[in-house]
Amino acid sequence: DSIRVFAPATVANVACGFDIFGFAVTSPGDIITLTRRDEPGVVITDIIGDGGRLPREADRNTAGIAIQTYLRHIKRTDVGVEAVLQKQMPLGSGLGSSAASAVAGVYAINELLGRPLTTRQLIPFAMEGERIACGSAHADNVGPSLLGGFVVIRSYSPLDVIRINTPATLFCTLVHPDIEVNTKDARFILKNEVSLKNTITQMGNVAGLIAGLMSPDYDLISRSLVDVIIEPVRSILIPEFNEVKQAAVDNGALGCSISGSGPSMFALSRDAETAERVGAAMQQAFLSVGITSEAYVSEI
Ligand code: HSE
Repeated sequence: DSIRVFAPATVANVACGFDIFGFAVTSPGDIITLTRRDEPGVVITDIIGDGGRLPREADRNTAGIAIQTYLRHIKRTDVGVEAVLQKQMPLGSGLGSSAASAVAGVYAINELLGRPLTTRQLIPFAMEGERIACGSAHADNVGPSLLGGFVVIRSYSPLDVIRINTPATLFCTLVHPDIEVNTKDARFILKNEVSLKNTITQMGNVAGLIAGLMSPDYDLISRSLVDVIIEPVRSILIPEFNEVKQAAVDNGALGCSISGSGPSMFALSRDAETAERVGAAMQQAFLSVGITSEAYVSEI
C-alpha cells in the first residue's frame, strides 16, 4: 500500500490580492511517497533535496502536520504511514514550498484511505501545515496547489474558496534569485494599517484582475497587476527589484510582481515565446548585480 503524489508550486498574492489570490504552475513542485505501516502514527523516513534543513519530526514538518491533523479529523489515528518527501524547489523562495509539501501529504493520505473527503475538504488540513511553517494559516498557496488553476480565497472564516476561469492562453514566468526571504519575516515587516486611498486603489485592481481574467481582457489584466500596499514594503528585501520588473515589462509582460512573500518574482504574458524572453531578461537584470537565478515558464 503505497502512493506517490506531486503537488505544484504556486504564486500567491498575484500582485493586488494579498492572502486572497493564488495560482498553480506546472513546475516546480514537491513529491511525497506514502506507505502504510503497521504501527499507528506518521513517520518521515527521508527528505531529499532540502540540504538537511527541514524538520524530520512529523509534528514539526508541514507535510507531517497536515497528515496528522487530517487523521485526527477523520478519527483514524489507528492508521500508520511512513513518508518520503522529495523537495524539488528551494526553501524560503516565495514559490509555496511549504504549501506544496503539505498539499502532497494530505492528498496522498486521502487517496490511500479510499478518498473519504473531497479535494476541496482537504484545504484546512494543508493550512495547518502553513501555520507551522510560517505562523499564519493562509490558504493562497495551498488552495491553488490542491485545486489547480487560479483561486480566490473570498473569506477565511468561514473558508470560501473560488476557482476563477483564466484566458485560454496565459503564461507565467517565475524567476527565483538565489537568495532567501523567510515568510515569517516578510509578514512581520508589513504595516497593520492601510490608508483609505490605497485600499480603494487596491480594491479597483482586485476587481479589475478578476474581470480581466474571466472576460478575458489582457489589457485589463495588465492594468490591474498593481499592488500599492504590500509590494512597496517587501520589494526592499529583493535586490534590483525595480530593474527586474522593468525588464519584464519592457520585454512584453502584462505585469510583474513578487511571488508570494518573495524573493521570487513572477510575470504574466500572453504567449510562451514572450514568457521565455521575459524570463531571460529578468535573469539578466538579477545577474547585473551578480545574483544568479532559476527561471520557470508554465501555462496557467
Ligand atoms: N500570502 C502569503 C504572504 C503567501 O504573502 O505572506 C506566502 O507565500
